[in-house]
Amino acid sequence: MPAASLDQLVSLCKRRGFIFPGSDIYGGLANTWDYGPLGVELKNRVKKHWWDTFVRKRPDMVGQDAAILMNPKVWEASGHVSNFNDPLVDCKNCKQRFRGDKLLEEKLGVEAAAVLKLDQVEPMLTAEKIPCPSCKKVAWTPAKKFNLMFKTQQGVIEGEGSDIYLRPETAQGIFVNFRNIVDTMRMRLPFGVAQIGKAFRNEITPGNFTFRTREFEQMEIEYFVEPGTEAEHFEQWKDAVWQWFLGFGIDKDRLRVREHGKDELSHYSNRTIDIEYLFPWGWGELFGLANRGDFDLSQHEKFSGQDMKFTDPDDATKKFLPHVVEPSFGCDRSVLTFLLEAYNEETLPNGETRVVMKFDHRLAPYDLAILPLSKKEHLIAKAETLYKKIIQETDLVCDFDVTGSIGKRYRRQDEIGTPRAITVDFGTLGEDEKQGEKDTVTIRDRDTLKQERLSIGALMEKLRK
Ligand code: GAP
Repeated sequence: MPAASLDQLVSLCKRRGFIFPGSDIYGGLANTWDYGPLGVELKNRVKKHWWDTFVRKRPDMVGQDAAILMNPKVWEASGHVSNFNDPLVDCKNCKQRFRGDKLLEEKLGVEAAAVLKLDQVEPMLTAEKIPCPSCKKVAWTPAKKFNLMFKTQQGVIEGEGSDIYLRPETAQGIFVNFRNIVDTMRMRLPFGVAQIGKAFRNEITPGNFTFRTREFEQMEIEYFVEPGTEAEHFEQWKDAVWQWFLGFGIDKDRLRVREHGKDELSHYSNRTIDIEYLFPWGWGELFGLANRGDFDLSQHEKFSGQDMKFTDPDDATKKFLPHVVEPSFGCDRSVLTFLLEAYNEETLPNGETRVVMKFDHRLAPYDLAILPLSKKEHLIAKAETLYKKIIQETDLVCDFDVTGSIGKRYRRQDEIGTPRAITVDFGTLGEDEKQGEKDTVTIRDRDTLKQERLSIGALMEKLRK
């Protein structure tokens, strides 16, 4: 069973060093979160496996890492300056601000809310008697367009700098480099460019832990194809992404595909599907796949004056703007989903309950833990020698834990999802000669709780596989 409530997970994340509230010692900054020592290992592993799957193991893919700050013209060309808006409503009673479409979505469903025009939002909120989530009164202002981009200034003299934006999506960094990549990497269609990086949106109603924040990380691909072939590539990407999530242990019954209605589409898209996950508060977008056509390349061609066309390497007379299929992953939402799915509470045969994070082994922050049975000096020295041998001879990430009783340490390793715990005891030291256990250790499996005694040689062979 995954976590039944978000509170269970938030508490474990703080208690065990996965995710802390941002700026904690100053009372926090609303809806900001910091990845702690285990959270960053988990997140880095998600990014690594994503990059391996979609970039390194595909001959049709390359990667890049563009700057967050871009020429402001990029956002005029991309349509974000005029179109990247949410409908903002104010509660006249308590002055709190909300996203009108989200309030309606909860009552009417996403499809019904998405088709409403800006001037229909307030009348519909009033007709449906939807109260302010804060003060419970129904007293809404007409909805206003609220642009989600964060604006800042570039330049050292206050007031004299030029306005620039923090990027609201990583995608545009790829479109502006399209020519550079085609020219330097000799790409042939279809090909894709991948990027992982931060994006910023001044969300009106962030919340649900790391699900909706103002600063978040995306893992995006822009896949360039010959016009007319986007439908087949769209299906291929949908299947590849679905399989990627299943491959890392997400239960398929908690995933679904949702097609966007025509009126719901972003300004750049002519078809979008979301892969949604059943979060503790209901279905929510985990991933989006869009057919962006040639919207972005043609806009950048227009605004920059540069030729963005692709020349067929076999026929130089064939020049055209490729179309784009865009698989866009939320990195933080993927991490949140893996955390929720991993969370399990189990009753042990002795009646005790344990919390265990059953991460896919490839994602767990630590691959294994070395636990000396007690704090006796020579036992710790033996365990340290084994620890050093493992980290020097393998690529495994290894924890070394001497604090507390062995039972408590097992509980901790379960709660942080370490797949294997290795105990070094007096048998390992040869102080239990009659059992012939010198230079053997026990290895405990996180999920089955089975313990196996094996020689250090056999252990090393197992770990090297
Ligand atoms: N380039 C296309 C694009 O940005 P999007 O659906 O707006 O599309 C893609 O965002 C993904 O980024 C989403 O599926 C979601 O996982 C993640 N995402 C978007 N806004 C977010 C936010 N405020 N906080 C955390 N993740 C977010």
